Amino acid sequence: MSGIEKNIHWTSKWRCPSNIALVKYWGKHDFQKPMNPSLSFVLQNAFTETSVELLKEADRKVEFYFEGAASDFGERIEKYLDSISSHLPWINKYNFRIRSHNSFPHSAGIASSASSFGALALCLAEIDFAISGREPDHPDLWLKASELARMGSGSACRSVYPGFAIWGQTQLFESCRDEHAIMVYEGIHPMFYGLRDAILMVDSGTKQVSSSVGHELMNDHIFQRSRIAQAHQNISELYLALLTGNQEKFIEVVENEALSLHAMMMTSNPSFILLKPNSLELISRIRRFREKAKIPVSFTIDAGPNIHLLYFKKDELDVKAFIERELLDFCENGKWIDDRIGKGPMRIT
Ligand code: PMV
Repeated sequence: MSGIEKNIHWTSKWRCPSNIALVKYWGKHDFQKPMNPSLSFVLQNAFTETSVELLKEADRKVEFYFEGAASDFGERIEKYLDSISSHLPWINKYNFRIRSHNSFPHSAGIASSASSFGALALCLAEIDFAISGREPDHPDLWLKASELARMGSGSACRSVYPGFAIWGQTQLFESCRDEHAIMVYEGIHPMFYGLRDAILMVDSGTKQVSSSVGHELMNDHIFQRSRIAQAHQNISELYLALLTGNQEKFIEVVENEALSLHAMMMTSNPSFILLKPNSLELISRIRRFREKAKIPVSFTIDAGPNIHLLYFKKDELDVKAFIERELLDFCENGKWIDDRIGKGPMRIT
């Protein structure tokens, strides 16, 4: 152990996946709480690995290394640590050394804030349990990690579980909360654990509008009330479709959610059109293929131009041939990312 390493008091390292929402979170209330409930699944190949070392010296300082190099993101982490200090009373007593890397390139169009805040929150929750003498495999660890992740980036709270998660109060379960996400496991039709997500890269450039600006525009949005009602209805219908294996309903709700998110952005003031001509071309080709080939493909879209093509394991060969043959011309440099529903976060020892 080197001199500085002797100073390390607590340490934790986690891998946490990104997630893709099927029912979209759009709009906040209070501190990072959602205006409407959302439902997502975690990805398998898109993840962040983060290690946190707490060093003994008092007065909190943060050293942050991203992909091995010192990074400005440290300032955002400092603000984040301030914002959660009432939840982690020990936080101001240590210096932090945090190292992080992503399995996917920065410009891949994958929400890196979900996986990065998810991984950091898991480390902090584990250290919190260790400091307070609680068992690290206690089920409350996940709730704590989800709540801490939410305070960094809302959608991150859904990344700390395997498979599907719901965040925000709904009539579906009493345990649904605005403070943290819950895992949805029991009763989901096995077909949905074979979900595939082909991320079709239309544009890897920086975002035209940050999600925080987008969320804010929902505060005075003329369709705010109807959007909230729609999300509640969609989450109930989607959950039922997941239980019963209803592919048609799944497709209907998922595409309706993706387009509603963009409709909200297009009709806000100021308004944003984040879809590109190639996004629309991909959407119409996906729909045409579904009709002609009778293969249950669908799409979802985040707050950007890239298209997530969703399909099932049994159709993998046909869909991959379809992507190669008919979609790659509309992707930036023919780029797409082959991902699938994942098994959730992993502690790294
Ligand atoms: O977590 P944020 O603040 O980056 O918001 C994410 C919002 C969407 O990705 C568009 C939808 C969602 O539920 O993930």
